[in-house]
Amino acid sequence: MTIPSQTARPRPLVAGNWKMNGLKPSLKEVSAMRSAVEAGGAGRAELALCPPATLVMAVAELCRGSAITVGGQDCHAKASGAHTGDISAQMLKDCGATYVIVGHSERRTDHKETDADVAAKALAAKSAGLVAIICVGETEAERRAGQELTVVARQLEGSIPADFTSAELVVAYEPVWAIGTGLTPTTQDVANMHASIRGLLVKKLGEEGAGVRILYGGSVKPGNAVELMGVPDVDGALVGGASLTAKDFMGIAGAYATA
Ligand code: PGA
Repeated sequence: MTIPSQTARPRPLVAGNWKMNGLKPSLKEVSAMRSAVEAGGAGRAELALCPPATLVMAVAELCRGSAITVGGQDCHAKASGAHTGDISAQMLKDCGATYVIVGHSERRTDHKETDADVAAKALAAKSAGLVAIICVGETEAERRAGQELTVVARQLEGSIPADFTSAELVVAYEPVWAIGTGLTPTTQDVANMHASIRGLLVKKLGEEGAGVRILYGGSVKPGNAVELMGVPDVDGALVGGASLTAKDFMGIAGAYATA
């Protein structure tokens, strides 16, 4: 089963976030993904892979000329300088990246990144010619307290700089409690959140806000992709664990394949 093609909507994006996983042998999964995409396995969806920085260049080379684009998982807010161990948006662009994820909850938690830090990174991405995938999402405690819409609204307000166009920005809604846990919100909860995010984007960015792709992320698997991707205002997925193998990733992208 696949979801009906919605040609009036922006082209869906299924992005894979490999996190701190992947060595050279993982490149064979990328080749298999490329072959599957070329056989029509993702329909009109765009696929993006965000491998660790060590593999960005190799994945970009393998995917060149295909419908698979490449992204980094984070970038520094500055273009260059004395920041040992960090990677700039310009460097990712130089390696062949199109996207960079910023503000993932693991960065917000592990590295204490604030909304202001995320906004600065998104601006750096834009200056380097990359599309920023800005992540937002509530914790389990925040959802239990009924604060999810307020929390995500606050994160969006602080993390998205003014004047971004729909071509420069993707938003990923990832409830923290759904990441890597096998738990997902109900489709009604996803619909409510995405409608709220859409409203905020239009308020902040005007007409451009209507065209920004809003991805759902958190335990997306081949078995729930059609249901989740079929929710109104869900323009694709940000996938962690299930993006590591061609079998699972294409099982998700297959939600967009035309029958
Ligand atoms: P998951 O991760 O698909 O493994 O839940 C999603 C993410 O963190 O982007």
